[in-house]
Amino acid sequence: MNVVFLAPSYPPEMQQYTRGLAEVGVNVLGVGDSPRRALPPSLKPYLADYLQVPAIMNENDVIKRVHAWLKGRSVDRVLANWEPLVILAARLRERFGLPGMTVDQVTGFRDKQLMKERVKAAGLRVPHSFRASSEKEIRAAAERIGFPMIVKPISGAGSADTFKVSSKPELESAIAAIRHVQEVSCEEFIEGEEFTFDTVCIDGKPAYENIAAYLPKPLIARTNEWISPVIITVRDMQQPRLRPGITLGRKVLTALGMGTGFTHMEWFLTPKGEAVFGEIGCRPGGAHLVDQMNYTGDIDLFREWARVACWKSFEAPTARKFNAGIIFKRALGQGRISRITGLKDYLRRYGNHVVEEELLRPGTQRRNWKQTLLSDGHLMVRHPNWDEAYKISFAAATDITMYAGG
Ligand SMILES: Nc1ncnc2c1ncn2[C@@H]1O[C@H](COP(=O)(O)OP(=O)(O)OP(=O)(O)O)[C@@H](O)[C@H]1O
Ligand SMILES: [Mg+2]
Repeated sequence: MNVVFLAPSYPPEMQQYTRGLAEVGVNVLGVGDSPRRALPPSLKPYLADYLQVPAIMNENDVIKRVHAWLKGRSVDRVLANWEPLVILAARLRERFGLPGMTVDQVTGFRDKQLMKERVKAAGLRVPHSFRASSEKEIRAAAERIGFPMIVKPISGAGSADTFKVSSKPELESAIAAIRHVQEVSCEEFIEGEEFTFDTVCIDGKPAYENIAAYLPKPLIARTNEWISPVIITVRDMQQPRLRPGITLGRKVLTALGMGTGFTHMEWFLTPKGEAVFGEIGCRPGGAHLVDQMNYTGDIDLFREWARVACWKSFEAPTARKFNAGIIFKRALGQGRISRITGLKDYLRRYGNHVVEEELLRPGTQRRNWKQTLLSDGHLMVRHPNWDEAYKISFAAATDITMYAGG
């Protein structure tokens, strides 16, 4: 089987999917804009061929080049696991007449307003919302929704340009801050906890399901630098309070015509116990969420996704053994990391439960915490008991401190 996989080396976790594809026995034909000579040596054995294009986001140009490159060869799948490329993959599939999700289906996972319209049309609970492409339309939407409300880009990521607006003056400053965004979604603000619902689907039916808790909610984590964001996968998915979220998630997949592959949904659990839809992508979650799911069940979803995408078969056990927590750290100060305190003591106490420690080392330049949830590195921990996993995760958040600059 010949599989075109878009962007096999970037973002870095794509290298794991490339490995997975090779391990289930297919020829991986990579297409990306990283120079061939810059591909990591560890990736090369998994690539049967590679086409370097000038700009992977330039869809029409990539389609033309891939078409010419593949002349005379047979292709069985075109796949992508990175959000900005899922539409391009669907366009290539349509162009080559290949099985997989259509542009229309994928657009339902990419356009936040269309997504909500389709989910709502299926009778599911979504935040009331309006599409707006001018200041006037934003103000009109605010009149109808009331405060508090959310203003965010129609096709955003990483909570960028997302604002909670609680008053008229806040609305005006959000309008000023979001001026560069062409089209926004204005939404009713949903109170409650926030979770993921992640799947690997075969023809829209989950072969694998996962829930993770955001602690705190992404918008809060992404607007307060002092916070060490924590995300913990939930081992016990049978607990009654999460049932509405799982039911909602499965129905959303049907409503949007999910095909085969990863999905990553976000949803709210209101104080009344109601599940409200947030958003969904037809690709895996980023920021090591797939590693977290792997640590939850001691499985390899990079490979199982590949098996599903190519052969519609999922062979890993789905029993959950652990709650796996990831803790992202942000250094105090600017510039290069200068020191880390509390780590030794933390590892002495909880080292048995730590599966990864990837904090940036002293001397390394800080990452931009606004741009990447990865921030200045992370720890990954796990424990079979939720309360313990929670305690160990938050101990890393509070007891380890990173410093930068002088
Ligand atoms: N209607 C809403 N009510 C309450 N909170 C919301 C609402 N919409 C968005 N948020 C908050 O803003 C965050 C970012 O919004 P959303 O997930 O839609 O955008 P995003 O930029 O694609 O996010 P990311 O890429 O971080 O998943 C959400 O995770 C949530 O915390
Ligand atoms: Mg989101």
